[in-house]
Amino acid sequence: MSKITTSKLLKMKQDGEKIAAITAYDASFAGLFDQQGIHVMLIGDSMGMVLHGQDSTLSVTNEQIAYHTKCVRAGTENALVIADMPFMSYSCPATALKNSHELMAAGANMVKIEGGEWLYETIKQLTQNGVPVCGHLGLTPQSVNVFGGFKIQGRDADKANEMIEHAKGLEKAGAQLLVLECVPVDLANAITAAVSIPTIGIGAGNGTDGQILVMHDILGISSGYIPKFSKNYIEITGNLQQAVSLYIDEVQSGAFPDEARWFK
Ligand code: KIV
Ligand code: NA
Repeated sequence: MSKITTSKLLKMKQDGEKIAAITAYDASFAGLFDQQGIHVMLIGDSMGMVLHGQDSTLSVTNEQIAYHTKCVRAGTENALVIADMPFMSYSCPATALKNSHELMAAGANMVKIEGGEWLYETIKQLTQNGVPVCGHLGLTPQSVNVFGGFKIQGRDADKANEMIEHAKGLEKAGAQLLVLECVPVDLANAITAAVSIPTIGIGAGNGTDGQILVMHDILGISSGYIPKFSKNYIEITGNLQQAVSLYIDEVQSGAFPDEARWFK
């Protein structure tokens, strides 16, 4: 496999080839995922939960994301590496520029930020400065306290239409990729059709241009709770390499996620 770039991901959408993404936090797992042919790796602020044992992502710092980005970069040959910008690290364009600089210098190819309309100016300035941006709509975990819990987003028509408008606005502002988390399948499909940039779903049905899961869920090492939309591939394969390889196969064939893992 050759290096994955933003233009390669766009071509995959245009060709109807599904993008397989996973979170990664260190060089060893990054190397294993890369060897199996994962297209995109995200240094997620989910590290607050799966690495630090917290009950939200809010305490993760830019310095921590930069450290783990450096680790993942060291183990990665071909996959596109996205670094999550943590809570409050992109509260205005100037802050976003400063913190994204640290993540890009640590080896990220792109940064991810959560939100809609309020980010248009930030995205413009980041991309103009050479920082590719991945958007994130739906259940954006940094807003858990505003939402009043980890809840499916976009269930009523007004909120759904607003999310479609925000997706188009993010693209217009310069975003080159878009994560859709925990939204009804029909809405995820409508957004995927409304934008020309690739959409990566998590709990968003199988009509998005790609899928992402937290590595601990795929590998069955999440303590206790596994989300309804996720899948434990170790349980099926009993082997790390085969678990990741089967996940990629099922994303590419559309077998993952099956209907039991969608929200209607
Ligand atoms: O932090 C993370 O792992 C994420 C993905 C679940 C999309 O944002
Ligand atoms: Na995240």
